[in-house]
Amino acid sequence: MTSFRIRIDGQTADIEADSESSLFSAMTRAGMAWPVSCRNGTCRTCLARLLQGQVRYEMAWPGLSAEEKAEGYCLPCVARPVTDVVITKA
Ligand code: FES
Repeated sequence: MTSFRIRIDGQTADIEADSESSLFSAMTRAGMAWPVSCRNGTCRTCLARLLQGQVRYEMAWPGLSAEEKAEGYCLPCVARPVTDVVITKA
């Protein structure tokens, strides 16, 4: 398991995240609030913009189109880091 850092745009503290947990799980462990609802990648409540870094998903995800992925959107409730990342709420 590899560890990465998550930075929320506009906040100074980084969050430690492992490669097997979602960005949202890491944020929750760090006590950081982030809007979520379904937590399974379908409702898009958690939609974020990936400003730096890369994430992966366990499966091709219907809640996010290929175009949105290419434009840098991600779903933190199911996205797992593969690099350090910087995100902002979309
Ligand atoms: S909380 Fe529903 S898609 Fe992330």
